[in-house]
Amino acid sequence: MRRIAIINQKGGSGKTTTTVNLAASLAQKKRRVLVIDLDPQASTSHWFDRTAIEKGLLSVFTENIPLSTIICETAQKGISIIPSSSWLMGLEKSLATEVGAETLLKQKLLELDLSQWDYILIDCPPALGILTINALTACDEVIVPVEARIMAVNGLVQLLQTIDIVRHRLNNNLKISGIVPCRVDSRTRHSREVVEELKKNFNDLVYKTSIRENVRLSEAPSFFKPINEYDPSSNGAVDYKALATEVIKQEKTL
Ligand SMILES: Nc1ncnc2c1ncn2[C@@H]1O[C@H](COP(=O)(O)OP(=O)(O)OP(=O)(O)O)[C@@H](O)[C@H]1O
Ligand SMILES: [Mg+2]
Repeated sequence: MRRIAIINQKGGSGKTTTTVNLAASLAQKKRRVLVIDLDPQASTSHWFDRTAIEKGLLSVFTENIPLSTIICETAQKGISIIPSSSWLMGLEKSLATEVGAETLLKQKLLELDLSQWDYILIDCPPALGILTINALTACDEVIVPVEARIMAVNGLVQLLQTIDIVRHRLNNNLKISGIVPCRVDSRTRHSREVVEELKKNFNDLVYKTSIRENVRLSEAPSFFKPINEYDPSSNGAVDYKALATEVIKQEKTL
């Protein structure tokens, strides 16, 4: 069972789009997926049309409610979700004085029978705060979506430093499985340059698959469907399917 945090502290880099559509493409390839929405914006939960009742994950973290009670099935076969709620925004404050607050999610996952799933994908908020650190502590792997419309390399350096710190202090097993260039517009020189720059700096860490700019991907959440259901022939569906194939290939090397 693989546990993967989808992370980038930069807003709008494609984390939610990647979480939802990678989950859907993995499920299409018969992998059983648990999606955890750790972002108080709850975009992934809305996309799957599953928003938390009341405090959701916050009550799991602060009132000792079992994680199993807030897992929901989705309309997509093979995908379950732990939805987020805006209450999570208060977590930083609630946990300020709690010893070991960084390991709460990891501890909570131990309560579950994880053999039910092949993949856990965690959508993180655009910050390197306590929620993201919890995801990095609970996972073995990280996938970093990068918006290829801007020069993203500087922000990535800070992110990789944070991952290094978590690896040393909290989670020896943590590794970066890949960087995914998102919103790539191959017609523009700039977009191509960003992808080349990523490859130059991070070599094999960059997935071969780039996710192209595709308006169908931005429409799909309003229809509560992943791209492979909303428009299976779109570039977005083709790209996320290719990414899932690459991610599945990594299973052999783990
Ligand atoms: N390949 C793509 N083609 C077109 N639009 C895209 C693509 N990927 C993402 N978007 C759009 O870009 C915006 C940001 O994407 P997304 O919500 O996935 O990023 P995020 O990293 O989760 O953002 P946040 O940091 O706010 O959580 C959204 O409006 C989404 O629809
Ligand atoms: Mg998001």
